Amino acid sequence: HNHFRADKPLEGKTALVTAGPTYEAIDPVRFIGNHSSGKMGYAIAEELNRLGAKVFLVSGPTHLQASSDIETIRVLSAQEMFESCNSLFDKVDIAVMSAAVADYTPKEAASQKIKKKAEDFTIELKKTIDILGTLGQRKTTNQTLVGFALETNNELEHAQEKLYHKNADFIVLNSMQDEGAGFGTDTNKVTVLSRSGNTKNYDLKSKQEVAKDICQIIVEHQQQL
Ligand code: CTP
Ligand code: CA
Repeated sequence: HNHFRADKPLEGKTALVTAGPTYEAIDPVRFIGNHSSGKMGYAIAEELNRLGAKVFLVSGPTHLQASSDIETIRVLSAQEMFESCNSLFDKVDIAVMSAAVADYTPKEAASQKIKKKAEDFTIELKKTIDILGTLGQRKTTNQTLVGFALETNNELEHAQEKLYHKNADFIVLNSMQDEGAGFGTDTNKVTVLSRSGNTKNYDLKSKQEVAKDICQIIVEHQQQL
C-alpha cells in the first residue's frame, strides 16, 4: 500500500546505518583505528529520520551525537559492529553501511599492556568479517542495501566489483580526486553505482547535501518495490 506522505516518504520504514571508524584492541591501552569522523553516516541517519524512517545507528567511536529519536548503538570493534548489524538487519527495510570498518584485527589482544622490549615488533592480524558482504548474502528483495567505497586507483572498476561481490543495491564511491572530499572534511564528492547499471556523478557538496542525494535514491528504490 502506497499511502506515503510527500514530506515523509519513509514513514513506516526502518533503517540501519553504520558510521565512524572501528577500534581494534592491541592491548588494554592501544588499538588500531582510522581517521573516519562518522560525519557522513550521521548525516545519512539524520536524513533518513527526517524522511520518516525509524533509524538504528550503529556507531563506532566518534565525537558526534545523533538526535534523540535516532536509536544509537555504540560499538568499538568490527566484531561488535557486525553483531549489532547482524541482529538488526532482518527487521529493517534499508541498510546503509557507511562505517570505515577495519579490514584486519589483532589475532589476539594482550590482556596486559605490552612492554617495550626488542627493536622490532610484529603484531599478527587476521581479517575481520565483511559486514556489508554478509548482510548482502541474506538480503531480501524488499530491502535496500547501500555500501560505500573508497578507492585510489581504477575507482569505477573496483566500486563495480564491490557492488556485485557484496550484493548491494548501490555503492557510493567517494572521490579521492578532489580537494575537500573524504575523511575529516565537511564535504564529499560521490558517484553512485546501482545494481541496475546506472552510474550517477554528483558535484562536491556538504555531507548533509550528499546525504540528501543518497536518501533520495533510497526513497526511489523503496517506492519501486
Ligand atoms: N565493509 C564492511 N565490513 C568490513 C569492511 C568493509 O561492512 N569488514 C563495508 C564498508 O562499510 C563499505 C564497504 O564495505 O560500505 C566497502 O568498504 P571498503 O573498505 O571500500 O572495501 P573492502 O571490501 O574493505 O575492500 P578494500 O578495503 O580492500 O578496498
Ligand atoms: Ca576496507
